[in-house]
Formats: sequence, structure tokens, C-alpha cells
Amino acid sequence: MTNRIDYLRISLIDRCNFQCLYCMPEGADLEYALKEHWLTHDEILQLLTEVFIPLGFTRFRLTGGEPLLRPGIVELVEAIVHLPETQDLAITTNGFLLAKLAQPLHDAGLRRLNISLDSLNPETFQKMAGGRGKSRWHTVWQGIQAAHRIGFSPLKLNVVVIPGINDHEVLDLAALTIDQAWHVRFIEFMPIGNDSLFEHKGWIASETIRAQIAQRWGLGEGAVTGNGPADVFQIPGAKGTLGFISQMSECFCDRCNRMRLSADGLLRPCLLNETGQIDLRSSLRAGVPLKTLREQVGVLVGQKPDINFKMRESGVTGAYSRTMSQIGG
Ligand code: 5AD
Ligand code: SF4
Repeated sequence: MTNRIDYLRISLIDRCNFQCLYCMPEGADLEYALKEHWLTHDEILQLLTEVFIPLGFTRFRLTGGEPLLRPGIVELVEAIVHLPETQDLAITTNGFLLAKLAQPLHDAGLRRLNISLDSLNPETFQKMAGGRGKSRWHTVWQGIQAAHRIGFSPLKLNVVVIPGINDHEVLDLAALTIDQAWHVRFIEFMPIGNDSLFEHKGWIASETIRAQIAQRWGLGEGAVTGNGPADVFQIPGAKGTLGFISQMSECFCDRCNRMRLSADGLLRPCLLNETGQIDLRSSLRAGVPLKTLREQVGVLVGQKPDINFKMRESGVTGAYSRTMSQIGG
């Protein structure tokens, strides 16, 4: 199957103010990029206008680490939203800074947010997101409420389901979609930089969760705007939808339409595969002409269907040593 490769995920920062169990295992010695190696806003915009947009990229997502920690994010969002070719811009965030930033981001033209919400229980949440006390859940919840009030739509809430930690909350989390037009997405837990937790806990297939929800309320097909690989359903009569992202039980590499740019300017064709990775930062700073970069990126984009095919053949589920926060979730 061929797909149009037109979706770029841009990591703005590899640091995070949370230490989610599944993303940054305790004691992990993560190596962060030097700040001077982060692409500047001007460099990001230059790459968008001179390299990616001419190659047909029109849909962008800002990720991290935690992208809202990046100084000047509101101005960057405004600049990307106003590029005439931008058809879609979204941010993936842990929501901790949203109570403060939701309004300025909306004013800047952002309309789409994905927020992690792994639990409705402050203690469980804390256990999953790290840190002391129970305050993180409340802060994130306030952020979600602010985003809702301000009118972000669609508002997607991401849940990574870990057996024995938050799997008993699946129905409560699904129920959030009944009265609000929120889109709750259950994501299969992946072994990515968290080997011992994964070995210890294992993972739950989307199918199991879907069956649980269907048994409680029934489940019809749903639809929601986005670029992702979620299978979308809806509790009958609910305002929102349920999404299932099943990268463990059902490889969707052949449908993958995204490239990833890391905070320090490495362009890779796949989350788990570095084939053909291009160091755009070094090239830019060494004065390599943008036309040359555009050609190099064009070649990598051309190789993507083949890389997708190989990933599908080899399977994506082998443990991988780098975490999402380092690669840009
Ligand atoms: N398994 C599944 N999803 C993960 N994420 C991060 N680490 C993992 C993992 N090990 C996803 C979470 C988070 C987003 C940034 O990346 O959904 O919301
Ligand atoms: Fe958690 Fe996201 Fe931060 Fe990883 S990057 S620790 S998933 S909030």
C-alpha cells in the first residue's frame, strides 16, 4: 500500500517535567541533547518552508519530551499555523502547563491537542507520571478543563494501559467520552526504553479493552479528525469517541505516513528505525544549501515505503533502548 508521506512530527525538546514509568524508567541514565544543538525556531521554520513543505508536507505535530517546556512555543505555533501550506498542526503534551498555556496557544491559532491522561486517580497518576505528592493529577486535570473550556477540538486524551497499574480504570476512562466530546485513546504499552517494567507487567491488547467496553455499553464505529493509526469507536449516544492504538497486536507500519525530526535536528523515517537518518542541524549550520537538503530529504521520503515494508516484516515489538521522550513520542 502506498501512502502520501506528508506528516512531520517535530520534537522541540528532549527533556520532560514528568518521568512516566513507561517512558522514563527510574534510574535510567538518559542522555540529553545539548541546548545549543536544539534547532532554533528560525531553523525549524526554514526547514519547513524550504525543505518539507516543497516536498509536500502539510501536517505537523509538535512533541517532546514535553513541548510546552520549550521557551517561545506560542510564537512558534503562531508562525507554523500561519504558513499558508499548513493544513494541520497539533501538539502532544502531558498537560502540566496547559492551565497557563491553553489560552495563548489557542490565541496563536492552535486547535488540536493530545494530552496524556493515564489515570483518574491522583495516586495512580502520580505513580505513573513520577514525582512526589498527588498534585500532578490535579494540575493536569485543570489543564484539560482549561483546554475544553477554551474550545480545543478535537481534544484527545491518551491512556497507556499497563496491567496491574491502571487497567482497572479502563471503564472509568472510557466513560469520560459519554458526556464530553472528548476522544479517549487507549495505547498498547510498548517495550521502548522500559525493558524491566515491560517484562514484569506485560501488555494488554486493544481487543481485550474494546471487548470490556463493548460488554458494558455496546460499541459502534466512530470518527474523529486526525492523522494517526487509531481505530475509532463510539459508545452509543456518547458525545466523544474511543480510539485504540494497537501497535503491539497489529503492526501498522505499512500505513505509516510520518517522519520525525528530533529536537537536535536529526530526521528519521521511523520511530524505531534509523535507516537513512539525516543530520539536518549539522548540514544547516555547515552552510549546506537548502536545495541540497531538500534533495536528500526527498530521497529519504522516497525510501520510506520500503522502510515501512521492512519494519512490518521484521516486527516492531522487539525491545528498543531509547525512550519516547528521546525520540519525540
Ligand atoms: N508505550 C506506549 N506509548 C508510549 N508513549 C510513551 N511511551 C510509551 C510506551 N512505552 C506515548 C504516550 C504519551 C506519548 C507522549 O507517547 O501515549 O502520551
Ligand atoms: Fe511522560 Fe510524555 Fe514526559 Fe514521556 S515525554 S515522561 S510520556 S509526559
